[in-house]
Amino acid sequence: MILVTGGAGFIGSNFIRGWRSRHDEPVVNLDALTYAGSTASLAGLAALTDYHFVQGDVRDRALVASLLARHQPRAIVHFAAETHVDRSIEGPEAFAQTNVLGTLSLLQESLRYWQSLSEAARATFRYLQVSTDEVYGSLDTGEAAFSETSPFEPSSPYAASKAAADHFVRAFNRTYGLPTLTTHCSNNYGPYQFPEKLIPLMIRNALAGEALPVYGDGQQVRDWLYVADHCEALERTLSAGQPGGSYAIGGHNEVRNLDLVQTLCEFLDEIRPRSHPYAGLVRFVADRPGHDRRYAIDATRAANELGWTPRKNWREGLRSTLQWYLDNLEWMAQAQSPDFSAWVQRNYNERAQA
Ligand code: NAD
Ligand code: TYD
Repeated sequence: MILVTGGAGFIGSNFIRGWRSRHDEPVVNLDALTYAGSTASLAGLAALTDYHFVQGDVRDRALVASLLARHQPRAIVHFAAETHVDRSIEGPEAFAQTNVLGTLSLLQESLRYWQSLSEAARATFRYLQVSTDEVYGSLDTGEAAFSETSPFEPSSPYAASKAAADHFVRAFNRTYGLPTLTTHCSNNYGPYQFPEKLIPLMIRNALAGEALPVYGDGQQVRDWLYVADHCEALERTLSAGQPGGSYAIGGHNEVRNLDLVQTLCEFLDEIRPRSHPYAGLVRFVADRPGHDRRYAIDATRAANELGWTPRKNWREGLRSTLQWYLDNLEWMAQAQSPDFSAWVQRNYNERAQA
């Protein structure tokens, strides 16, 4: 079996669904169910005998140790993290706690468990760290895309915490021989993404007839990766990645934020027309401090060593993602707790007035 952390979040829940559809192997999902996690993202799986959900914190070493001893996983896929850049600017401490110390706790227990295994089981065990391209910092227009050899130059507290965690992962491989794998992927999008992130936030606001807040001049570029493509890359990394190695995973879909939002508006005009075009809701608001200008990934190593390339074109993926949210308004509604409303107030009221 495999142990997944953070499987009630956006990418983790997509990963578990994909895994369940392709493998017979059982999954244990350890998730603290923070504001960003929801069992509604895993509806339908709870009744299965080879899927186990455990509510708990990755920093709880006794809990992690007991799960490892009881379930004897052959791999750990570590998604659990605080993930929203804007929240990391408001409160960096939670990011150090979960992303850095949480990863360190998980590594320590993984190492103890790995050392207790037979030689054969040690040889095949893998610890997979799901990291981000944001550890590499920002690219200028025309600059070569990030690859596995790009230096770490994180801009936000979120990126700094992920970079720190990645250094621990590397150290556990180099120092103790733990068979680690690290992936650095670009911005994911698709079903079950929490509505504080760009695409679902814009869909939510557009449907409510509220402003579509574009930070700064909207010319920042992200390399959009469809979540199912990312999950496939993670599966390939688990089966074919070199222990100690890292893999840059990207969508070959560089798009400016404003172009993305305007395209979403066009799709909405078509699918869910209203009296005025949705693009009229776009508002330029105060920029994010330290806002990275451009991310882009050179995924040559993943193509050569893992045999992986992304399949989804961003326009096609954006349209099907929009359709998923329109078909799943109940999921969208349950994600919007009082905490979410308070966040929207705090983050956007001040920006709009700036
Ligand atoms: P998410 O915010 O949607 O979900 C995070 C999950 O982790 C939630 O279910 C939450 O309850 C859980 N969690 C948080 N703290 C925890 C703790 N202390 N113990 C146990 N569980 C905890 O995140 P996501 O977008 O699915 O991202 C998953 C991983 O992928 C993260 O490590 C993130 O850094 C990385 N990543 C995400 C993107 C992206 O575009 N979303 C891109 C690159 C890398
Ligand atoms: P986000 O989804 O927060 O991902 P990340 O910061 O990890 O790239 O944001 C994606 C881009 O969209 C980023 O350049 C910031 C921008 N953005 C807006 O312009 N308005 C918004 O309301 C949000 C949430 C993001």
